[in-house]
Amino acid sequence: MKAINVHAFGGPETCIIDDVEIPEPAAGEARVKVAFAGVNFIDVYMRNGTYARSHTYKTPLPMVIGMEASGTVDAIGEGVTDLRVGQRVAFCLLRGSYAEFVAVPAWKLVPVPDDVPLEIAAALMLQGCTAHYLSHSAFPLQKGQSCLVHAGAGGVGQLLIQLAKNLGATVFTTVSTQEKVEIARNRGADHCILYRDVDFREELMKLTSGKGVDVVYDSVGKTTIMSSIRCVRRRGLCVLFGASSGVVDAIEPLSLAEAGSVFFTRPHLADYMATADEIRGRAGDLFRLMKEKLLSVAIDTVFPLADAASAHRYIEGGKTRGKLLLKIEP
Ligand SMILES: NC(=O)c1ccc[n+]([C@@H]2O[C@H](COP(=O)([O-])OP(=O)(O)OC[C@H]3O[C@@H](n4cnc5c(N)ncnc54)[C@H](OP(=O)(O)O)[C@@H]3O)[C@@H](O)[C@H]2O)c1
Repeated sequence: MKAINVHAFGGPETCIIDDVEIPEPAAGEARVKVAFAGVNFIDVYMRNGTYARSHTYKTPLPMVIGMEASGTVDAIGEGVTDLRVGQRVAFCLLRGSYAEFVAVPAWKLVPVPDDVPLEIAAALMLQGCTAHYLSHSAFPLQKGQSCLVHAGAGGVGQLLIQLAKNLGATVFTTVSTQEKVEIARNRGADHCILYRDVDFREELMKLTSGKGVDVVYDSVGKTTIMSSIRCVRRRGLCVLFGASSGVVDAIEPLSLAEAGSVFFTRPHLADYMATADEIRGRAGDLFRLMKEKLLSVAIDTVFPLADAASAHRYIEGGKTRGKLLLKIEP
């Protein structure tokens, strides 16, 4: 089968299309014929070696990359009783989705409702479940609370704004351009800060009368984190969940004290998707919100599988305004 196989850590050019063996489903697994694979920043971190020392997300070379997909069940391993061949499913957090077929542990598979297109299902698994655990578990937002979402026009950002608004929070967001202001505003953001024109912390403090927000969700990392910590209200929470601008190597504990005894966490999605119930619960919530028209998903661009390198250049270039997908031709 065709797959994007990375042989050495490096730039987008390492996304090479190869012929590899079609996987056989082991006991407890089902094989999925992939329709759409999601492109996410985690694929960039795996490709360029950022996660070379991660135990949670292992990156043995050579490796087929991609951590999210939707498609149909094509074969079933021993002992799997709750799935059938032909069933539409989606999954995330299993490496190998930039491929025609993937063998997936059955507990990681989510049945996709008939009224949810497969491209939307792929878009909702990794970015949607991230937005869900951030707003419902890492810091469960309540009516009347406030949050700052960086990169509000991005894939996770657009979903997180919508979930935060559904929970009754006031949402502040940072974006780079006026076009992205419109996108974030359409998703429900109350205040959009053009961080290239103004100091985002000064602006946020002005907007909150010097108080700060209950929680900051920071996916940008290196260029924002020190200011993000100082955007949090006294004893609030700063969630660093990404590194779009580069990895944050260290935070001095005293800087958290000086910011107002702020709490700090750096979560992995895998720790919030640890059981079948948790995975199906979060995905089920997202599918329901879509049905109730309380959540919209923007597909930015669909690339052919062979063009995964271009998709990586696109996401690393900060161009995304929604979901990037790879389409696997039948
Ligand atoms: N820890 C977890 O559980 C978890 C799970 C999923 C995703 N994530 C993280 O969430 C983040 C967002 O993922 P996504 O797929 O939705 O991507 P995305 O938000 O669509 O794209 C990243 C955005 O970050 C902004 N950005 C700021 N500085 C940047 C820079 N130097 N280079 C590139 N972009 C920059 C850009 O928006 P502006 O133009 O508005 O600045 C860009 O559009 C990633 O960092 C990812 O690793 C974490």
